[in-house]
Amino acid sequence: MSTESANVDSYLFEPVQLGPLQLANRIVMAPLTRSRAKEADVPSELAIEYYAQRATAGLIIAEATQISPQGKGYVFTPGIYDRAQIEAWQRITEAVHAKGGHIFLQLWHVGRISHPSLQPDNALPVAPSAIKPEGQAYTDDGFVPHVTPRALATSELAGLVEQYRIAALNAQAAGFDGVEIHAANGYLLDQFLRDKTNQRTDAYGGSIANRARLLLEVADAVTSVWGGERVGVRISPLSSFGDIADSNPEPLFKHVVKELSARKLVYLHVIEGETGGTREVPGGFDLQVLRESFDGLFMANNGYDKELAQRALKTRRADLIAFGRPFISNPDLVTRLKTGANLNEPDPDTMYGGGAEGYVDYPTLEQEAQR
Ligand code: PHB
Repeated sequence: MSTESANVDSYLFEPVQLGPLQLANRIVMAPLTRSRAKEADVPSELAIEYYAQRATAGLIIAEATQISPQGKGYVFTPGIYDRAQIEAWQRITEAVHAKGGHIFLQLWHVGRISHPSLQPDNALPVAPSAIKPEGQAYTDDGFVPHVTPRALATSELAGLVEQYRIAALNAQAAGFDGVEIHAANGYLLDQFLRDKTNQRTDAYGGSIANRARLLLEVADAVTSVWGGERVGVRISPLSSFGDIADSNPEPLFKHVVKELSARKLVYLHVIEGETGGTREVPGGFDLQVLRESFDGLFMANNGYDKELAQRALKTRRADLIAFGRPFISNPDLVTRLKTGANLNEPDPDTMYGGGAEGYVDYPTLEQEAQR
């Protein structure tokens, strides 16, 4: 082994300071919808073991979690808006902390990516503008086409921001180490950012500053609870996931990131390219310009393997690397990356919904050796 590759090998496994937290390594478990919550949007008991098994990640970002019943867009996703949910999350954060790990919660409102059957009183999903998304919602009756959402009134937006603040407080009560604001993947905050989905004529639509306003108000509300040093944001500037697009994403996201940086957020989590797809989007821009506008840590995500991750860290294109699918099937991903062991492949049939199978039964290297 050359000296250079020996050096390259250490980057992922170096400790890193994230606000007040010392992370054991630069490997992050990305937020992953696993659709195993119970009635009333309460996280499953199995989630305690699932997250604890993955506590050797430098940081776990728990799955997207709705801030309100209206924020829900899929069956079996968890919430953080009532007592039973807080108590269930508390058992999860305790189990992760007992293993020496750190865990953030991802705060989620799906906006138009929902369906009346998932909404309180079968109401229409809400959105910046009444524009129907292509595609289908995952409901109790399986996949059904999306509907035309109801445009939120200006007078409703302060209440929405307040729901984010309360969800942030609830996450604190549940013992999380911090929170991530979900502003990616075509959900509500992303719908406000982009001009394909935001055609408002009030102070929350039109100019870049106006379209960024809701996200920045949410960032202010959430940092008022946690301080910037325990708040991150996830964005996906080049993704079309959720039937989203913008006519000119580079100046939009430069503005967003500059403003988030001014609020001293601890990290910027960027999905590079299409969510779960290609990293190279035709007509895209170099996302490193966002790193240059942001003073905190840069967390990169999308299709990373060990080599790509080490190279990104070595060339300082990222400070942290978030792995999604590899963490589904490799609870000991950190050890496997370190030792160069084979990775288990995730089974697509058990990614969403169901119980223990494909959730808490992927073996560690040690367990494989005992078989
Ligand atoms: C999903 O449930 O499929 C999902 C949730 C959140 C995301 C992306 C996908 O950011």
